[in-house]
Amino acid sequence: MDPFEPAIIAFVCNWCTYTAADLAGTSRLSYPKNIRLIRVMCTGMVDPQYVIKAFLEGADGVLISGCHPGDCHYINGNYKARRRVKLLKEILPRFGIDSRRLRLTWIGASDGIQFAGIMGDLVAQTRELGPALPDLKMVI
Ligand code: FES
Repeated sequence: MDPFEPAIIAFVCNWCTYTAADLAGTSRLSYPKNIRLIRVMCTGMVDPQYVIKAFLEGADGVLISGCHPGDCHYINGNYKARRRVKLLKEILPRFGIDSRRLRLTWIGASDGIQFAGIMGDLVAQTRELGPALPDLKMVI
């Protein structure tokens, strides 16, 4: 049997975390291939349904990552995301999903090294947790 490799969906804001991912790439930093980035204009537009749908379609972990507090290009989108993540962490166990599988981080545009490090930690932590919903497996 193959060792478990988690599938992780990361919703990243265009202005900060996506740019950090780009910087990581152009700096030739490596990070695990288990992560699929979904670029959004702001973390404030990540509807909680997107997160639940990702898990129900087989993701083992979900990351939402954007600009640092005070740096959101849409003023308060990241604060909205923070409130939604707090609520989602209360709701997810009702679906049988460990709330540690959902993470929120702030990664600025110049934080390519931090981006690569957080992606590595995220995959390692999710690998330890095992499959989110064992009957579902997302192929990424
Ligand atoms: S624009 Fe980056 S979190 Fe709002």
